[in-house]
Amino acid sequence: MSLDSDAGLIARPFRFYFRMNPRAFALGSASLFMTNLLDVLTPLGMKFAIDAVTARDNSKLLEGIAMYMGLMLFVAFFRYGWRYFFGRFHHSVAHDLRIRIFRRLTVLGPSFYQRSPVGQLMSLMTNDVNSFRMAIGPGMLTMLDAIFLLAFILPIMCWLSFDWTWKTLIFVPFMPIIMKKLETAIHERYRIEQDRLSDVSARAQEIVSGVRVIKGFAQEENQLASFNRLSKEYEVACNRVAKIDALFSPSFQTATIFGFVALLWWGTPDVMAGRVTLGSFVAFYEYVRRMVWPFSAIGLAISMMEQGRASFDRIRELLATETDIPDTGTESIERFETLEFRDLHFSYPGAIAEALNGVSLTIRAGETIGIVGPVGAGKTSLLQVAARLFPVNPGSVLVNGRSIETIKRSSLSSLFSYVTQDVFLFSDTIAENVALGFSDFPGLEPVQESTRVVNIDTEIQSIPGSYGAYLGERGVNLSGGQKQRLTIARAMIRRSQVVMLDDSLSAVDGRTEKMITSELRRATGGGSSQTVILVSHRLATLKHADRIVVMNQGRIEAVGSHAELLETCATYRELNEMQSNTPSVPGETALIGSQL
Ligand SMILES: Nc1ncnc2c1ncn2[C@@H]1O[C@H](COP(=O)(O)OP(=O)(O)OP(=O)(O)O)[C@@H](O)[C@H]1O
Ligand SMILES: [Mg+2]
Repeated sequence: MSLDSDAGLIARPFRFYFRMNPRAFALGSASLFMTNLLDVLTPLGMKFAIDAVTARDNSKLLEGIAMYMGLMLFVAFFRYGWRYFFGRFHHSVAHDLRIRIFRRLTVLGPSFYQRSPVGQLMSLMTNDVNSFRMAIGPGMLTMLDAIFLLAFILPIMCWLSFDWTWKTLIFVPFMPIIMKKLETAIHERYRIEQDRLSDVSARAQEIVSGVRVIKGFAQEENQLASFNRLSKEYEVACNRVAKIDALFSPSFQTATIFGFVALLWWGTPDVMAGRVTLGSFVAFYEYVRRMVWPFSAIGLAISMMEQGRASFDRIRELLATETDIPDTGTESIERFETLEFRDLHFSYPGAIAEALNGVSLTIRAGETIGIVGPVGAGKTSLLQVAARLFPVNPGSVLVNGRSIETIKRSSLSSLFSYVTQDVFLFSDTIAENVALGFSDFPGLEPVQESTRVVNIDTEIQSIPGSYGAYLGERGVNLSGGQKQRLTIARAMIRRSQVVMLDDSLSAVDGRTEKMITSELRRATGGGSSQTVILVSHRLATLKHADRIVVMNQGRIEAVGSHAELLETCATYRELNEMQSNTPSVPGETALIGSQL
């Protein structure tokens, strides 16, 4: 769904959804109309019955009772109708909105996520969608309910007694003024309340995900204190809303109480003098009582709609966020030939220093390239830019000689497999996690084959449920090394023409590492070898690469084979000496690298 298809929604959300689902909305409104129309007639049934009693007319009494009951039955029928159709309407709106938000989230790149806490996005998807749903569903319904009731009750009251009507409803003209004042006051408070709620969700999400770190550093009390502060701020924001919210109903009801007093004052002499029947008086009294709801309802509806509007402002902001890596490329690439970095300068959004500072390098099809360098040298940045996770100047990253932004995203993602430095597995089965890169599950056989290559198949088979075992929160937990191997299997199974492994072999033993690197060199579907870019702190991993790139402070310091670099590059030689004296144990590698 492109931004264009959200344009109508962004501009006029209510109108957009009424048009999208007109049937449910129209049927709901029609049922509501009928419910109100029939419901306001019921006091007339009562009037006929009471007047029949005072006139001692039995047949009229029966007619009155029958009319009252018949009306009530129809009211029940139509009440079911509006509840059903309105329910369908607002739940379908919430569903559509969630999907649109989700799509936008998938389009936006890492720079967006860097500035948006996950908890805040979760809150948008749940709380804000819900409060918009409440506005367009129950809020809208309550508003219509109030309007219909007022439109039906007023003429009947005038028919019964115009004189009583204006006297009892004299305070009505003040209502819109009070409403406007309350509405203005509550809008800003709702916005703040929603902001505070999303801060609370964001922090809760961080605490839950980082619970191991918190425990490791014995930071429970500190975290509790900071969460307590956020939660308290939310409570204060809620109370500020409640202060205004609580004024809605009483202010409307007060106006109606004046109506009652007026009726008793002016109405009873008319009844006593016989100018108006007792039945009419009771019916009128009932109508004045019923006027309480529409006025309170208008207040309620306005407050729900305000809350929905504040939430939609936040949703709108997300939906209107443009990605900095739009999929506007038109070129497709069948066969990979070269990946070229041409005087590439790159800095992360908001960062002052450049992460890549004039990198020039050409990688040809079939090559195995090793990249080594100290922490923060720019190795990950280089791979991220090649995978087009961040935008770069046109002409500074080229695939087959074409600037990367001119190539279709789908084409790029089928060419490249990128195993990120951070391991991430989904709360899904092991098999589904490995087959992540396929839109349709490719079958168990290729999954098993790829896990065999990374030497994790026997370990998987010993897990209860084997390949069907669930990982994550409600499933099994794997060791760091096991997780790392699964993410490599995820890339191996795709047999992409270019595979990029970002320090992905750091927790893998020597034998497995050999198996993986030799498998990577094997032919891809098209007959030529896979192109492999291996980032590692461990020279033993990179030794057999065709060329090794030594990076430092965002620049390329030297390029060559292991033997050449030993001759020409002092940094590399030093690193080699350090590592040849040290047993190759996972975990020590980062330390060694940092000493480069
Ligand atoms: N998301 C980011 N936002 C801002 N700056 C970043 C970000 N990621 C990395 N950097 C900075 O960019 C520079 C290069 O980082 P990069 O992650 O590419 O290093 P690296 O060579 O992969 O290091 P390591 O060996 O630790 O993985 C560093 O100075 C780092 O602080
Ligand atoms: Mg890195």
